[in-house]
Amino acid sequence: KDLRIGVVGTGAIGRTHIERINNKLQGAKVVACADVNVDFGKSVAEKYDCKFYADGEEMIASDDIDAVIVTTIDPYHEQYVMAAIKAGKYVFCEKPLAPEAEACKRIVEAEVAGGKQLVQVGFMRRYDTGYRQLKAAIENRTYGEPLMLHCAHRNPAVDESYDTPMAVENSMIHEIDVLRWLLNEDYATAEVVFAKNTRRTHANLMDPQIMILTTKSGVRIDVEAFVNTGHCYDIKCEVVCEDAILNLPEPSNIEVCANATRGHAIHSDWSTRFVDAYNTEIQEWIDATKEGRVDGPTAWDGYVGQVTAKAASKARDEKKVVEITFDEMPEFYKK
Ligand code: NAI
Repeated sequence: KDLRIGVVGTGAIGRTHIERINNKLQGAKVVACADVNVDFGKSVAEKYDCKFYADGEEMIASDDIDAVIVTTIDPYHEQYVMAAIKAGKYVFCEKPLAPEAEACKRIVEAEVAGGKQLVQVGFMRRYDTGYRQLKAAIENRTYGEPLMLHCAHRNPAVDESYDTPMAVENSMIHEIDVLRWLLNEDYATAEVVFAKNTRRTHANLMDPQIMILTTKSGVRIDVEAFVNTGHCYDIKCEVVCEDAILNLPEPSNIEVCANATRGHAIHSDWSTRFVDAYNTEIQEWIDATKEGRVDGPTAWDGYVGQVTAKAASKARDEKKVVEITFDEMPEFYKK
Protein backbone atom coordinates (compact mmCIF):
# COMPACT_ATOMS: atom_id res chain seq x y z
CA LYS A 1 0.00 0.00 0.00
CA ASP A 2 1.33 3.43 -0.96
CA LEU A 3 2.33 5.84 1.78
CA ARG A 4 -0.04 8.84 1.50
CA ILE A 5 1.98 12.04 1.72
CA GLY A 6 0.88 15.65 2.27
CA VAL A 7 3.28 18.40 1.16
CA VAL A 8 3.08 21.83 2.80
CA GLY A 9 4.80 24.49 0.67
CA THR A 10 4.38 24.04 -3.08
CA GLY A 11 7.33 26.23 -4.08
CA ALA A 12 10.41 25.23 -6.08
CA ILE A 13 11.73 22.31 -4.07
CA GLY A 14 8.28 21.23 -2.88
CA ARG A 15 7.27 20.66 -6.49
CA THR A 16 10.46 18.71 -7.30
CA HIS A 17 9.70 16.40 -4.36
CA ILE A 18 6.08 15.92 -5.54
CA GLU A 19 7.34 15.19 -9.03
CA ARG A 20 9.91 12.62 -7.88
CA ILE A 21 7.50 10.88 -5.49
CA ASN A 22 4.66 10.61 -7.99
CA ASN A 23 6.66 9.93 -11.14
CA LYS A 24 9.97 8.37 -10.20
CA LEU A 25 10.14 6.81 -6.75
CA GLN A 26 8.27 3.84 -5.36
CA GLY A 27 5.89 3.14 -2.51
CA ALA A 28 4.28 6.55 -2.00
CA LYS A 29 1.95 9.12 -3.54
CA VAL A 30 1.45 12.79 -2.77
CA VAL A 31 -2.28 12.89 -2.11
CA ALA A 32 -2.54 16.39 -0.67
CA CYS A 33 -0.72 19.71 -0.69
CA ALA A 34 -1.05 23.05 1.08
CA ASP A 35 0.27 26.56 0.57
CA VAL A 36 -0.60 30.08 1.75
CA ASN A 37 -0.46 31.15 -1.87
CA VAL A 38 -3.89 29.68 -2.60
CA ASP A 39 -4.10 30.25 -6.33
CA PHE A 40 -0.69 28.85 -7.03
CA GLY A 41 -1.13 25.96 -4.57
CA LYS A 42 -4.41 25.03 -6.24
CA SER A 43 -2.75 24.92 -9.63
CA VAL A 44 -0.10 22.56 -8.25
CA ALA A 45 -2.81 20.35 -6.70
CA GLU A 46 -4.60 20.23 -10.02
CA LYS A 47 -1.45 19.34 -11.92
CA TYR A 48 -0.64 16.43 -9.59
CA ASP A 49 -4.23 15.40 -9.02
CA CYS A 50 -4.12 15.84 -5.24
CA LYS A 51 -6.34 17.55 -2.68
CA PHE A 52 -5.55 21.19 -1.87
CA TYR A 53 -5.68 22.66 1.64
CA ALA A 54 -5.33 26.40 2.23
CA ASP A 55 -4.54 25.50 5.85
CA GLY A 56 -1.42 23.33 6.22
CA GLU A 57 -2.20 22.35 9.80
CA GLU A 58 -5.62 21.09 8.76
CA MET A 59 -3.97 18.91 6.11
CA ILE A 60 -1.45 17.54 8.61
CA ALA A 61 -4.22 16.60 11.08
CA SER A 62 -6.43 15.03 8.42
CA ASP A 63 -6.94 11.26 8.04
CA ASP A 64 -6.22 11.65 4.32
CA ILE A 65 -2.47 11.54 4.86
CA ASP A 66 0.02 9.23 6.62
CA ALA A 67 3.16 11.41 6.48
CA VAL A 68 4.20 15.02 5.91
CA ILE A 69 6.81 16.89 3.87
CA VAL A 70 7.54 20.49 4.90
CA THR A 71 8.94 22.67 2.11
CA THR A 72 7.70 26.12 3.10
CA ILE A 73 10.11 29.01 3.56
CA ASP A 74 12.28 28.56 6.67
CA PRO A 75 10.35 30.55 9.33
CA TYR A 76 7.30 28.25 9.07
CA HIS A 77 9.09 24.90 9.34
CA GLU A 78 8.67 24.85 13.12
CA GLN A 79 4.91 25.38 13.01
CA TYR A 80 4.30 22.47 10.62
CA VAL A 81 6.85 20.09 12.13
CA MET A 82 5.21 20.69 15.52
CA ALA A 83 1.79 19.97 13.99
CA ALA A 84 3.12 16.67 12.58
CA ILE A 85 4.58 15.66 15.95
CA LYS A 86 1.22 16.49 17.55
CA ALA A 87 -0.55 14.32 14.98
CA GLY A 88 1.99 11.49 15.55
CA LYS A 89 2.99 11.53 11.86
CA TYR A 90 6.41 11.07 10.29
CA VAL A 91 7.67 14.35 8.86
CA PHE A 92 10.43 15.18 6.41
CA CYS A 93 11.42 18.85 6.81
CA GLU A 94 13.69 20.61 4.33
CA LYS A 95 16.79 22.18 5.82
CA PRO A 96 17.10 24.15 8.02
CA LEU A 97 14.89 22.51 10.63
CA ALA A 98 14.26 26.11 11.78
CA PRO A 99 16.25 29.33 11.37
CA GLU A 100 16.92 29.75 15.12
CA ALA A 101 18.63 27.15 17.31
CA GLU A 102 16.03 27.78 20.04
CA ALA A 103 13.23 26.78 17.65
CA CYS A 104 15.13 23.58 16.76
CA LYS A 105 15.45 22.88 20.46
CA ARG A 106 11.69 23.28 20.94
CA ILE A 107 11.16 20.70 18.19
CA VAL A 108 13.64 18.30 19.84
CA GLU A 109 11.88 18.72 23.17
CA ALA A 110 8.44 18.13 21.64
CA GLU A 111 9.64 15.01 19.85
CA VAL A 112 11.29 13.60 22.98
CA ALA A 113 8.15 14.39 25.02
CA GLY A 114 6.04 12.60 22.41
CA GLY A 115 8.19 9.51 22.97
CA LYS A 116 8.68 8.59 19.31
CA GLN A 117 11.19 9.66 16.67
CA LEU A 118 9.25 11.20 13.76
CA VAL A 119 11.36 14.02 12.32
CA GLN A 120 13.92 13.87 9.49
CA VAL A 121 15.79 16.94 8.17
CA GLY A 122 16.61 17.42 4.47
CA PHE A 123 20.41 17.30 4.57
CA MET A 124 20.70 15.48 1.24
CA ARG A 125 24.48 15.50 0.94
CA ARG A 126 24.50 12.43 3.20
CA TYR A 127 22.82 10.56 0.32
CA ASP A 128 25.37 11.53 -2.34
CA THR A 129 27.34 8.50 -3.57
CA GLY A 130 30.67 10.31 -3.33
CA TYR A 131 30.17 11.43 0.28
CA ARG A 132 29.04 7.89 1.17
CA GLN A 133 32.26 6.50 -0.30
CA LEU A 134 34.28 9.04 1.70
CA LYS A 135 32.43 8.08 4.87
CA ALA A 136 33.09 4.37 4.36
CA ALA A 137 36.83 5.02 3.88
CA ILE A 138 36.97 7.28 6.95
CA GLU A 139 34.94 4.97 9.19
CA ASN A 140 37.09 1.91 8.45
CA ARG A 141 40.20 3.97 9.19
CA THR A 142 41.57 2.36 6.02
CA TYR A 143 44.00 5.25 5.70
CA GLY A 144 44.53 6.09 9.35
CA GLU A 145 43.01 9.04 11.19
CA PRO A 146 41.55 12.00 9.26
CA LEU A 147 43.60 15.08 10.20
CA MET A 148 42.29 18.00 8.13
CA LEU A 149 39.63 18.73 5.53
CA HIS A 150 39.75 21.32 2.74
CA CYS A 151 36.32 22.02 1.31
CA ALA A 152 34.68 24.47 -1.06
CA HIS A 153 31.12 25.50 -1.86
CA ARG A 154 31.09 27.53 -5.06
CA ASN A 155 28.13 28.95 -6.98
CA PRO A 156 28.09 30.78 -10.32
CA ALA A 157 26.05 33.73 -8.99
CA VAL A 158 23.55 34.83 -6.35
CA ASP A 159 21.04 37.67 -6.38
CA GLU A 160 21.05 40.85 -4.28
CA SER A 161 18.96 39.24 -1.53
CA TYR A 162 21.86 36.91 -0.67
CA ASP A 163 23.85 38.66 2.07
CA THR A 164 26.96 37.99 4.17
CA PRO A 165 25.32 35.75 6.85
CA MET A 166 23.75 33.52 4.19
CA ALA A 167 27.14 32.11 3.18
CA VAL A 168 27.24 30.28 6.53
CA GLU A 169 23.54 29.85 7.21
CA ASN A 170 22.26 28.85 3.76
CA SER A 171 25.27 27.52 1.87
CA MET A 172 27.88 26.18 4.29
CA ILE A 173 25.13 24.74 6.54
CA HIS A 174 25.36 21.75 4.17
CA GLU A 175 29.06 21.32 4.96
CA ILE A 176 28.34 21.80 8.67
CA ASP A 177 25.99 18.81 8.58
CA VAL A 178 27.75 16.51 6.15
CA LEU A 179 31.25 16.93 7.60
CA ARG A 180 30.03 16.23 11.15
CA TRP A 181 28.38 13.08 9.76
CA LEU A 182 31.51 12.11 7.78
CA LEU A 183 33.78 12.43 10.81
CA ASN A 184 31.17 11.16 13.27
CA GLU A 185 32.03 13.77 15.86
CA ASP A 186 30.87 17.18 17.04
CA TYR A 187 32.56 20.52 16.49
CA ALA A 188 34.51 22.40 19.15
CA THR A 189 35.14 25.85 17.62
CA ALA A 190 34.20 28.05 14.65
CA GLU A 191 35.82 31.03 12.98
CA VAL A 192 34.99 32.91 9.76
CA VAL A 193 37.45 35.07 7.84
CA PHE A 194 37.08 37.04 4.61
CA ALA A 195 39.22 36.90 1.49
CA LYS A 196 39.64 39.77 -0.94
CA ASN A 197 36.16 40.62 -2.27
CA THR A 198 35.33 39.65 -5.83
CA ARG A 199 34.27 42.48 -8.14
CA ARG A 200 31.09 40.47 -8.79
CA THR A 201 29.72 40.90 -5.27
CA HIS A 202 27.42 43.65 -3.94
CA ALA A 203 27.33 45.97 -0.93
CA ASN A 204 25.74 43.48 1.50
CA LEU A 205 27.83 40.44 0.70
CA MET A 206 31.43 39.66 1.61
CA ASP A 207 32.43 37.07 -0.99
CA PRO A 208 34.40 34.79 -0.75
CA GLN A 209 34.47 33.75 2.91
CA ILE A 210 36.32 30.96 4.69
CA MET A 211 34.79 29.11 7.63
CA ILE A 212 37.22 27.27 9.88
CA LEU A 213 35.90 24.57 12.18
CA THR A 214 37.69 22.29 14.62
CA THR A 215 36.22 19.06 15.93
CA LYS A 216 36.39 17.80 19.49
CA SER A 217 39.28 15.43 18.61
CA GLY A 218 41.22 18.24 16.85
CA VAL A 219 40.46 17.70 13.16
CA ARG A 220 40.75 21.08 11.39
CA ILE A 221 38.37 21.98 8.57
CA ASP A 222 38.38 24.91 6.19
CA VAL A 223 35.40 25.59 3.92
CA GLU A 224 35.51 28.24 1.22
CA ALA A 225 32.15 29.73 0.27
CA PHE A 226 32.51 31.61 -3.01
CA VAL A 227 29.04 32.26 -4.36
CA ASN A 228 29.80 34.56 -7.29
CA THR A 229 32.44 32.60 -9.20
CA GLY A 230 30.82 33.76 -12.42
CA HIS A 231 31.46 30.40 -14.06
CA CYS A 232 30.89 27.28 -11.97
CA TYR A 233 29.02 25.32 -9.36
CA ASP A 234 31.69 23.35 -7.58
CA ILE A 235 31.58 21.27 -4.41
CA LYS A 236 34.92 20.10 -3.07
CA CYS A 237 35.83 17.95 -0.12
CA GLU A 238 39.39 16.80 0.39
CA VAL A 239 40.09 14.67 3.45
CA VAL A 240 43.73 14.53 4.44
CA CYS A 241 44.33 11.35 6.42
CA GLU A 242 47.52 10.01 8.00
CA ASP A 243 48.15 7.62 5.09
CA ALA A 244 46.16 9.02 2.12
CA ILE A 245 44.40 12.00 0.66
CA LEU A 246 40.77 11.35 -0.25
CA ASN A 247 38.78 13.52 -2.67
CA LEU A 248 35.03 13.75 -3.23
CA PRO A 249 34.19 12.56 -6.77
CA GLU A 250 31.62 14.28 -8.98
CA PRO A 251 28.88 12.45 -10.89
CA SER A 252 30.45 12.05 -14.31
CA ASN A 253 29.50 13.58 -17.65
CA ILE A 254 30.52 12.49 -21.15
CA GLU A 255 33.88 13.57 -22.45
CA VAL A 256 33.65 15.92 -25.42
CA CYS A 257 36.47 16.65 -27.84
CA ALA A 258 35.71 19.81 -29.83
CA ASN A 259 37.26 23.17 -30.69
CA ALA A 260 40.74 21.82 -29.98
CA THR A 261 39.76 21.01 -26.39
CA ARG A 262 39.02 17.71 -24.66
CA GLY A 263 36.85 17.87 -21.55
CA HIS A 264 33.50 17.32 -19.92
CA ALA A 265 30.70 19.57 -18.84
CA ILE A 266 30.30 20.26 -15.13
CA HIS A 267 27.04 20.65 -13.22
CA SER A 268 25.75 24.19 -13.22
CA ASP A 269 23.80 24.08 -9.94
CA TRP A 270 22.70 21.92 -7.01
CA SER A 271 19.55 20.67 -8.73
CA THR A 272 21.51 18.55 -11.22
CA ARG A 273 24.68 17.96 -9.15
CA PHE A 274 22.64 16.42 -6.34
CA VAL A 275 19.61 15.03 -8.18
CA ASP A 276 20.55 11.42 -7.39
CA ALA A 277 21.10 12.36 -3.76
CA TYR A 278 17.59 13.88 -3.56
CA ASN A 279 16.05 10.78 -5.13
CA THR A 280 17.88 8.44 -2.75
CA GLU A 281 17.06 10.67 0.22
CA ILE A 282 13.31 10.69 -0.41
CA GLN A 283 13.18 7.00 -1.39
CA GLU A 284 14.99 5.98 1.80
CA TRP A 285 12.69 8.27 3.82
CA ILE A 286 9.62 6.62 2.27
CA ASP A 287 11.01 3.13 2.97
CA ALA A 288 11.96 3.93 6.57
CA THR A 289 8.63 5.67 7.22
CA LYS A 290 6.72 2.62 6.02
CA GLU A 291 8.81 0.48 8.36
CA GLY A 292 8.12 2.89 11.23
CA ARG A 293 11.58 4.37 11.83
CA VAL A 294 13.74 7.45 11.14
CA ASP A 295 17.14 6.60 9.71
CA GLY A 296 18.22 9.93 8.18
CA PRO A 297 19.34 13.21 9.77
CA THR A 298 17.32 13.69 12.96
CA ALA A 299 15.85 16.73 14.71
CA TRP A 300 18.94 16.55 16.95
CA ASP A 301 21.17 16.87 13.86
CA GLY A 302 19.02 19.82 12.76
CA TYR A 303 19.51 21.45 16.17
CA VAL A 304 23.29 20.88 16.27
CA GLY A 305 23.57 22.23 12.72
CA GLN A 306 21.84 25.48 13.67
CA VAL A 307 23.86 25.86 16.88
CA THR A 308 27.04 25.50 14.82
CA ALA A 309 25.85 27.93 12.15
CA LYS A 310 24.95 30.51 14.81
CA ALA A 311 28.38 30.10 16.43
CA ALA A 312 30.04 30.62 13.04
CA SER A 313 27.92 33.73 12.44
CA LYS A 314 28.90 35.11 15.83
CA ALA A 315 32.55 34.35 15.07
CA ARG A 316 32.25 36.23 11.79
CA ASP A 317 30.53 39.26 13.32
CA GLU A 318 32.84 39.46 16.34
CA LYS A 319 35.98 38.49 14.41
CA LYS A 320 37.06 35.84 16.89
CA VAL A 321 37.12 32.08 17.44
CA VAL A 322 33.86 30.97 19.09
CA GLU A 323 33.41 27.82 21.15
CA ILE A 324 30.46 25.67 20.12
CA THR A 325 28.43 24.45 23.04
CA PHE A 326 25.13 22.65 23.29
CA ASP A 327 23.27 20.32 25.62
CA GLU A 328 24.13 16.65 25.96
CA MET A 329 22.42 14.53 23.26
CA PRO A 330 19.32 12.91 24.78
CA GLU A 331 19.41 9.06 25.06
CA PHE A 332 16.38 9.12 22.74
CA TYR A 333 18.62 9.95 19.72
CA LYS A 334 21.37 7.42 20.49
CA LYS A 335 20.91 4.58 18.04
P1 NAI B 1 10.01 28.78 -2.48
O1 NAI B 1 9.94 30.19 -2.05
O2 NAI B 1 10.10 28.45 -3.92
O3 NAI B 1 8.74 27.98 -1.89
C1 NAI B 1 8.25 28.18 -0.60
C2 NAI B 1 6.75 27.97 -0.62
O4 NAI B 1 6.26 28.05 0.74
C3 NAI B 1 5.98 29.01 -1.43
O5 NAI B 1 5.11 28.37 -2.34
C4 NAI B 1 5.21 29.82 -0.38
O6 NAI B 1 3.98 30.33 -0.84
C5 NAI B 1 5.02 28.76 0.70
N1 NAI B 1 4.73 29.31 2.02
C6 NAI B 1 5.28 30.41 2.60
N2 NAI B 1 4.78 30.57 3.83
C7 NAI B 1 3.93 29.55 4.06
C8 NAI B 1 3.11 29.17 5.16
N3 NAI B 1 3.08 29.88 6.28
N4 NAI B 1 2.33 28.07 5.03
C9 NAI B 1 2.33 27.35 3.89
N5 NAI B 1 3.09 27.65 2.82
C10 NAI B 1 3.89 28.73 2.90
O7 NAI B 1 11.27 28.16 -1.68
P2 NAI B 1 12.11 26.84 -2.02
O8 NAI B 1 13.32 27.20 -2.77
O9 NAI B 1 11.21 25.80 -2.53
O10 NAI B 1 12.61 26.43 -0.54
C11 NAI B 1 11.74 25.87 0.39
C12 NAI B 1 12.57 25.25 1.54
O11 NAI B 1 13.40 24.23 1.02
C13 NAI B 1 13.48 26.26 2.25
O12 NAI B 1 13.45 25.98 3.62
C14 NAI B 1 14.85 25.94 1.68
O13 NAI B 1 15.90 26.19 2.61
C15 NAI B 1 14.76 24.46 1.39
N6 NAI B 1 15.63 24.05 0.28
C16 NAI B 1 16.54 23.04 0.49
C17 NAI B 1 17.41 22.68 -0.51
C18 NAI B 1 18.41 21.59 -0.25
O14 NAI B 1 19.46 21.62 -0.85
N7 NAI B 1 18.12 20.61 0.58
C19 NAI B 1 17.40 23.33 -1.82
C20 NAI B 1 16.35 24.32 -1.98
C21 NAI B 1 15.53 24.67 -0.94
